[in-house]
Amino acid sequence: MKSAKNRPIGIFDSGVGGLTVAKSVRKKLPNEDIIYFGDTARVPYGNKGKDTIIRFSREIMDFLVKKKVKLVVVACNTASSFSLKELKKSYKVPVVGVISPGMREAVKRTKTGRIGVIGTTSTISSGAYNKELKRIAKKPYKIYSKDCPLFVPLVENKFSNDRIAYEVAEKYLGELKKRKIDSLILGCTHYPILKKVIQKVMKHTNLIDSSVAVAEEVKKVLKKEKIESPKRKGKLSCFVSDDVDNFRSISGIFLKERTSVKKVVL
Ligand code: DGL
Repeated sequence: MKSAKNRPIGIFDSGVGGLTVAKSVRKKLPNEDIIYFGDTARVPYGNKGKDTIIRFSREIMDFLVKKKVKLVVVACNTASSFSLKELKKSYKVPVVGVISPGMREAVKRTKTGRIGVIGTTSTISSGAYNKELKRIAKKPYKIYSKDCPLFVPLVENKFSNDRIAYEVAEKYLGELKKRKIDSLILGCTHYPILKKVIQKVMKHTNLIDSSVAVAEEVKKVLKKEKIESPKRKGKLSCFVSDDVDNFRSISGIFLKERTSVKKVVL
C-alpha cells in the first residue's frame, strides 16, 4: 500500500464550482495529487435541507475514502455548513471545511468589526458562519448575511461580467451596503468568479475569497500529520456523478487547466 505521503487529497463539491478551491490548493501545493468529485447529478445543494446534504456528503466521503485519499476538503459551502461536524466525527481521515478558514480570514482583515457574508439560501439559513464567528472571536463583531441564489446560475451560464449580473448584485447587496460592512465573505464556491461585479457594488469592502485560506489550512494539516507529498508534479483527476460533457464545457470558467473527467455511480 502507498504511504500516506503519496496518496491524493480528495476535494468535493456539489458540482463544478469547487474547482475554485481545487485551483487554490493546486497553486499552494503543486506537489500534491488531487481527486476532485463534483456531484453534478444532484447539484444544486444550495436549496436542499440538512439531512439530504449529510446523506450526499457521506456517500461522497465513502467514494473518496475508497480512493485512499489522505485528507478531504469539503469545498462546497453548503455541505460544509451542514455536514462538516458529522464527517469529522465519523471518518478517520482529516476533513477540512471552508467556513472556518473564511471566517478567520475575515476576522483578521476587518477593522470595524462589521462583517458581511453571502452564500446559498441553505448556507445562510444554517447560520454556520454566525456560529463559527461566535466560536472563534471574543470581540463583539457584527455579522450581516444575505443569500444570493441567482449568482450560481449566472456564473454557470457565463453572465459573470454582464450587466445582468451587476443588476442582480445591486439588488442583493443593497442591504449589506447600508450596514456599512468593511469585509464580505464570498461564502459560495461560485462567488469568486463574480468578484469584479461584487466589488463594483461593494466599493472599499475587502472581499474574502476563502479558497486561499482553505489551501493554507490544508498545507498546515498535511505538515502537522507529516503527510506532505515529496517533491514532484501533482496531478488533478476529476470524477462526476452526471455526464462529463457539461462539466467539461463549464469547468473552464473555474480552472484554466485541462484534466481527466470520469463519470461514476456512487
Ligand atoms: N457549491 C455550492 C456552495 O458553495 C453552490 C452550488 C450549489 O448550490 O450546489 O454552496
